[in-house]
Amino acid sequence: AATGKGNYRHFMEKELHEHPAVIGDTLRQYLDPRTLEVNLPRLPFDPVKVPRLTMTACGSAFLAAQVGRYWIEHLARIPVDADVASELRYRDPPLPEGGAAILVSQSGETADTMAALKLLREKGQSVLAVVNVPESSMARESDATVLTVAGPEIGVASTKAFTAQLSVLACLAIGLGRKRRELSTLDEGRLTKALLEVPHKAAEVLERDAEIHALASEVAKARDVLFLGRGSLFPIAMEGALKLKEISYIHAEGYAAGEMKHGPIALIDSQVPVIAICPSGPLYEKTLSNLQEASARGGRIMAFTDAAGAPSLERFAERVIVLPEIDPFAQPILYAIPVQLLAYHVAVLKGTDVDQPRNLAKSVTVE
Ligand code: G6P
Repeated sequence: AATGKGNYRHFMEKELHEHPAVIGDTLRQYLDPRTLEVNLPRLPFDPVKVPRLTMTACGSAFLAAQVGRYWIEHLARIPVDADVASELRYRDPPLPEGGAAILVSQSGETADTMAALKLLREKGQSVLAVVNVPESSMARESDATVLTVAGPEIGVASTKAFTAQLSVLACLAIGLGRKRRELSTLDEGRLTKALLEVPHKAAEVLERDAEIHALASEVAKARDVLFLGRGSLFPIAMEGALKLKEISYIHAEGYAAGEMKHGPIALIDSQVPVIAICPSGPLYEKTLSNLQEASARGGRIMAFTDAAGAPSLERFAERVIVLPEIDPFAQPILYAIPVQLLAYHVAVLKGTDVDQPRNLAKSVTVE
């Protein structure tokens, strides 16, 4: 049943294994696999005229929004601001006439995001909500809604809803890019094709379970863990750190790999695992040299990469987990899965209450 654990030990484990299906179901809503075109949902703003987008959310949904920001700015050339909802409200940003906002929320009930929604509407912004619950408050009070097709998510720490949010935002970024004539039909086809490869490659990632479990037994001994990524994978590094904190109670930080030398490098010693998210792509060489800096200071590098990146990393990394190759555009969706799975295994090894971590709630209804 959709609401049972089936043969899994925890809801989180079950939900992690639903990534391929949920990504596929969500993509099918917003792109046509035959024509390789995006079907943009009804938008409450004109994509050609909108001067700026404000994206806001909380928790993992905010990290999905940050990836969305990279995608929309890159593919559609619309300036995007992204703030956590509890900050957006008090920052009092100047919001342009005709501006629009995109909210991201699994539950559609998070109090901070709801408060931001009200404020944004008061300030004349049209609001699009990306939510998983069609009858939620955010779906009701926004100007338009785009649904993620993740199904009910029971584990308090978000997993499959996150990749569903990324799937929606990826389609949205492509669709906006097309409408604004920033992307050709050819570009659109290449990008949608890459997205359509994600579900079966996500299933391949889940097959790396034993390797990720072995990595988890190292990470479980640590007091602090550093996650590094660059570009659209920087928010995925933060997702890895957030998930680890939430369910295993190990202190972790997600950092932009290039920024490490301006601070966190001081923390690096042989006790701190450095989890690198570094698939091949335009930022690969730069990330590699950041990791070499960490390694030269005794840091233990544990890397997620693809086949093309593996040989160079294997020269100095303690562990390399090789994932399927995919177009860099789609990498954030694919690489979210191993970092969540890693946090899961660490939490199980530590014996924490994986589905109901202490002090956290599935839907936070206080501001
Ligand atoms: C809580 C959950 C997180 C979630 C966040 C935002 O803190 O523990 O997993 O990302 O709320 O929830 P939402 O329903 O708005 O996506």
